[in-house]
Amino acid sequence: MTRDSVVVVGAAGFLGQACTKALVSAGMTVDAVDVVEASIEGVSSWTVADVARDGVPGELLARAGTLINFAWRNDPGRGNADMAKDAQTNVAAAVRSFEDAARAGVRRIVYPSSGGTIYGDNPPLPTPETAPIRPVGGYGAGKAAAELYLHAIALAYGTQTCALRIGNPYGPGQYPERGQGFIATATARTMVGTPIQIFGSAALARDYVYIGDVAEAFVRAVQIGAVKQSYVAIERVHRPSASRRPQRDALG
Ligand SMILES: NC(=O)c1ccc[n+]([C@@H]2O[C@H](COP(=O)([O-])OP(=O)(O)OC[C@H]3O[C@@H](n4cnc5c(N)ncnc54)[C@H](O)[C@@H]3O)[C@@H](O)[C@H]2O)c1
Repeated sequence: MTRDSVVVVGAAGFLGQACTKALVSAGMTVDAVDVVEASIEGVSSWTVADVARDGVPGELLARAGTLINFAWRNDPGRGNADMAKDAQTNVAAAVRSFEDAARAGVRRIVYPSSGGTIYGDNPPLPTPETAPIRPVGGYGAGKAAAELYLHAIALAYGTQTCALRIGNPYGPGQYPERGQGFIATATARTMVGTPIQIFGSAALARDYVYIGDVAEAFVRAVQIGAVKQSYVAIERVHRPSASRRPQRDALG
């Protein structure tokens, strides 16, 4: 049996929907999993499941070549509220999915990490993937922890792993008022005429990456030939500037 399907967990979310559509458009067989259902034309199957409680369905992993797990119930704005719970739910669930996939013989795991929260307050700009990991909050610590487990899974099982460090994605399908996604929130507030709150200094500048480019990066990470453990920054690289420092409150 050829194992060429892609299991996408969290397929109903902002990144999940965009990536699932892009994978389907690229001609791939996609098995979608989420706690809720969404209508995405062309997916091979849609399973409603809570992977934090029950794990990723084994029958899907048994035929998969790649796992992408977008499921995560936290964001930078709420990242420090209950770090122990975050680790117990999000980090543990992600690691369980990596482990189950590796044991089931899935060749590759592509993981949506964070370009905005794992490097700390004053990283070199543009920030290379080799910059030290110094998460500024609980959300970043959780994303970085899952990355480290992914590294350990790659060594233990020989699984190909790739963490895409996404910084400030924006575009269609992004929910406003989430604490992650300034453009969606600012646009929604502008439309109804409510004030836009800027955390920190209004002089701060950020770089954004279009969701279509993020989706394409995931497609490439699935399609590319053999990968060793890799970490790839997915953000629009901009000129370095003293006034441009990541703003920890609302970064991805
Ligand atoms: N949006 C950003 O700015 C950004 C930036 C960098 C990294 N990320 C990461 O990308 C991933 C997706 O982010 P998003 O913005 O699309 O989030 P989202 O909340 O829009 O999507 C997450 C999806 O996962 C599903 N889900 C959550 N828990 C689940 C569970 N236990 N079982 C099954 N499904 C579950 C949700 O129903 C939702 O559809 C997350 O891991 C996030 O940390 C997001």
